[in-house]
Amino acid sequence: MRKNSTLGTLSRVLAAAALAGAACTGGTSTGDDDGGDDDGTTPVDEWDQKLAEREYDYNAALRIASLRLTGKLPTLAEVKAVADAGDVAAQKAVYESFVRSYLDTPEFAGQMVRFWRDTFKMGEAAMLDTAPVFAAQLTVENRSYSELFTATTGTCPTFNAADGTFTAADCQNGVTTHAGVLSNPGVQAHFYSNMAFRRVRWVQEAFACTAYPAEIVEQGVEMGGAQAYTAPWPFESIAGAGNGGTVDFHDTSAVVCANCHATMNHLAPLFANFDEDGVLQNTIQVKTPNDGAPDAQLSDWLPAGEATAWRFGVPAADLPALGQAMAADAKVAECAVARYWNWAMGKGDIVDTLSLVPPETIQAHVASFQASGGLMKDAILAVYTSDDFVKF
Ligand code: HEC
Repeated sequence: MRKNSTLGTLSRVLAAAALAGAACTGGTSTGDDDGGDDDGTTPVDEWDQKLAEREYDYNAALRIASLRLTGKLPTLAEVKAVADAGDVAAQKAVYESFVRSYLDTPEFAGQMVRFWRDTFKMGEAAMLDTAPVFAAQLTVENRSYSELFTATTGTCPTFNAADGTFTAADCQNGVTTHAGVLSNPGVQAHFYSNMAFRRVRWVQEAFACTAYPAEIVEQGVEMGGAQAYTAPWPFESIAGAGNGGTVDFHDTSAVVCANCHATMNHLAPLFANFDEDGVLQNTIQVKTPNDGAPDAQLSDWLPAGEATAWRFGVPAADLPALGQAMAADAKVAECAVARYWNWAMGKGDIVDTLSLVPPETIQAHVASFQASGGLMKDAILAVYTSDDFVKF
């Protein structure tokens, strides 16, 4: 684990101090140990100082970069080239040239397929691989992240692991206008569930980097139960026992269902016509959990007249519109960079392990990612050449 190097705030530093030792799992050991970090009572300013005292170590960085980007250790020649380069500036130049070269290897393509399988929690069977392979192809070709949600063609490519090449192919699941991975048959099949909520959960966790609830207002509304209602949507904008739904999303007795389902119910109908095999049909293909598992009706999610949406105030009439809305969402861009960041720094999945990245730590990366139009390989290069990555 790369101690401290990813930490942007004091609180994270203190948390790391408390966890030091026990939390050192996974990742690549760099063998560094600055000692003394197992004392939870270490004064704060000493930690600040330690962060400031980190030094460039381009050989340690090269080892980690090579392992992550190619799956292999750097060659002896590369290690020597960095070591013998001279001063820090010269080492930096040599290091960065090697990182760039790793990004152009067939091995990098394979690493990206694995990265996206992990991120999407799917793959290794032909159909289930199409979404991770598409995301990997976009990365390897340094294309825009927004294509993940907006591409209309070539969204089911295949990958040849032997030579690291991609072959473009369209998805054949009955969709007229595709929306990147949002209309992918593997995604729809893998996350098939009652009322399409698992598909909606996947979209949220993979691309917005948080579990539900997705939208939380500062001032909640007391509902007379244990919890306040904290979603921005009017309470009656989703279905419940009182307005035609067969599942009561207005229930507040134990938990306030609407805190999560206000957002979820405005999204789920967009995914509801894909069947268990991921093929788009003309009618709703998902069930409710009610007796006899009847097919869900639109009125089970939303009352009449209520439109589908990505977020409150961001309507999305269909999957292509949803894709546009997601591509324009700053939180989605931040999530993309945070996932690259955690991968580089050897952290686990941002949602499952709550490996949150403080926004200020990656602010500059997110800004240049957005300014570039979301170029995916450039974002990786920026992370692997950042001071936080090369200083120990
Ligand atoms: C903390 C957020 C949250 C709250 C609160 C919540 N849900 Fe959900 N609900 C989810 C998520 C996420 C899923 C999808 C789970 C999955 O399949 O992975 C889901 C799934 C469901 C499903 C489909 C499950 C199935 O397979 O049968 C129903 C029905 C449902 N919720 C109803 C409710 C009701 C009714 C309430 C209130 C009593 C409620 N939920 C409260 C987040 C929430």
